[in-house]
Amino acid sequence: MTDRAVIVGGGTMGKGIALALAAASVQVELVEPSPSRGQEIRAELAARSAQGATSPISVHASLDEVRREPELLIEAVPESLSIKAGILEMASRLQPRLLASNTSSLSIDELACCVARPAQFLGMHFFNPVARSELVEVVLGASTSDWARDYAVDWARRLGKEPIVVRDRPGFASSRLGVLLGLEAIRMVEEGVADAATIDRAMTLGYKHPVGPLKTTDLVGLDVRLDIASYLHRTLGNRFEPPQLLRDLVSEGKLGKKSGEGFFQWH
Ligand SMILES: NC(=O)c1ccc[n+]([C@@H]2O[C@H](COP(=O)([O-])OP(=O)(O)OC[C@H]3O[C@@H](n4cnc5c(N)ncnc54)[C@H](O)[C@@H]3O)[C@@H](O)[C@H]2O)c1
Repeated sequence: MTDRAVIVGGGTMGKGIALALAAASVQVELVEPSPSRGQEIRAELAARSAQGATSPISVHASLDEVRREPELLIEAVPESLSIKAGILEMASRLQPRLLASNTSSLSIDELACCVARPAQFLGMHFFNPVARSELVEVVLGASTSDWARDYAVDWARRLGKEPIVVRDRPGFASSRLGVLLGLEAIRMVEEGVADAATIDRAMTLGYKHPVGPLKTTDLVGLDVRLDIASYLHRTLGNRFEPPQLLRDLVSEGKLGKKSGEGFFQWH
């Protein structure tokens, strides 16, 4: 029988994870409540499946429309404890074999409070763009079972990704380091050290990073980075305080690639 997976949230990450699962012949149901976003995704998926690029993905407006007991359920809704807590509580009722959060930073133990079976819950942190990234960070909460860890590792490998397993600390291994670098680069733009392209070149040419920290921030989404930084500031201290420039750009709607402008122009 074909494995079934449910993805909640059809944004940058949810759509990418859904496509990766469909490409691995998994039956995918995607939940996206925004009618305009849902429409956009349906049109894109129809075009892809017409080219035979992926097995069909069904898109629903609500978790109520999803079949129970999928093998895997991953939430990829905005980086907010309260939004994720509500979604995880509802998702638990579908009794997935493994329940995972794609959170970039939030505590798996805090999120575990809202799930029915904490032993079957953990973080599966995918990277952007999902199709081209190699890593899945598997984050273990205090109650996560060994079975759930191994099952998540198997899923990551099935999608052609390399899993790393880490303990639950704010920002895990990846975001804690990556966001710090991004925030420092933004402070350097604020101070006038150089423009964004020059600061990025310092890291791509000097340190062989494939993408500079400011372009990465644009790709992730400035709003997503601000949410993560605000949480890490509260939990890990002042070194994660979001720079004023980041707050200003987000309030001007300059969110990076998805809005057409961030530290760079995207046309
Ligand atoms: N953007 C990245 O590079 C990146 C990388 C790794 C992890 N993440 C994490 O993935 C998660 C999602 O980030 P994103 O960049 O895809 O955000 P996004 O803003 O692109 O997408 C979020 C989606 O969730 C939908 N949504 C909102 N409330 C919902 C609800 N109640 N039920 C179902 N869907 C709902 C929104 O309509 C939107 O389509 C966050 O936790 C983020 O930290 C993001």
